[in-house]
Amino acid sequence: MDSNWDRYYSTLKRVPRRLRVTAQFVVDAVSVFKKDGVKKVLDLGCGAGRHSVLLGGKGFEVIGMDVSRNAVRMAGRWVRKEKLENVAFVVAAMTNIPLIDRCVDAVVSVSVMHHALKKDVVTSVKEVYRILDRNGWFVANLASVNDPRYGTGRMLEKNTFWILEGYEEKRFGEVHHFLTKDEAFRVLNAFSRRDVTVLEDKTNYWKVVAVK
Ligand SMILES: C[S@@+](CC[C@H](N)C(=O)[O-])C[C@H]1O[C@@H](n2cnc3c(N)ncnc32)[C@H](O)[C@@H]1O
Repeated sequence: MDSNWDRYYSTLKRVPRRLRVTAQFVVDAVSVFKKDGVKKVLDLGCGAGRHSVLLGGKGFEVIGMDVSRNAVRMAGRWVRKEKLENVAFVVAAMTNIPLIDRCVDAVVSVSVMHHALKKDVVTSVKEVYRILDRNGWFVANLASVNDPRYGTGRMLEKNTFWILEGYEEKRFGEVHHFLTKDEAFRVLNAFSRRDVTVLEDKTNYWKVVAVK
């Protein structure tokens, strides 16, 4: 599958330091998952693999999934180096997750699901709901309309812009759908519990915690 993300990962010789540091809200989720008996976790949009490695190291059975084959290759190399046999990977798009209904206990997704047009954000959340088992957890961040990048770049539709990601010296265009708090809440309407708060350490994102 070709994408700008795929080209981005092809420019990386190894996983850079900033893609090794894990998101605090995923670290926090680990103890919640353990307490709740979570066993299988999907790392949706796993990128170079930092959260797949974290969760695998904590003993969960992990599937890392990403639309970029180069990202998955990189993540696979990292997992093999760590000798984690409980982490597997798949190359696929979040709008069409190649997993059967109700097969995972939790989905984590860091800085992924807003990289889409609104309709694809909605479809992807439906896919997450479909593959989650009853009482399964969905923990993610979503770009907020309060992000300073909101309104920059080329407008594709309401609240969706084609803007430049600026990682290190490599800049590449990506779609961003920025959500209001109400919209994030509405997108999660199928879930029995849903919480949308400002992400503490990155206030331009919403933190989403939902239970099926
Ligand atoms: C900002 S990176 C975050 C990667 C990883 N979650 C992390 O925290 O390091 C966004 C990731 O989402 C992936 N992605 C973008 N669109 C996607 C889609 N439609 N389906 C699956 N993954 C996608 C990209 O390939 C990229 O790896």
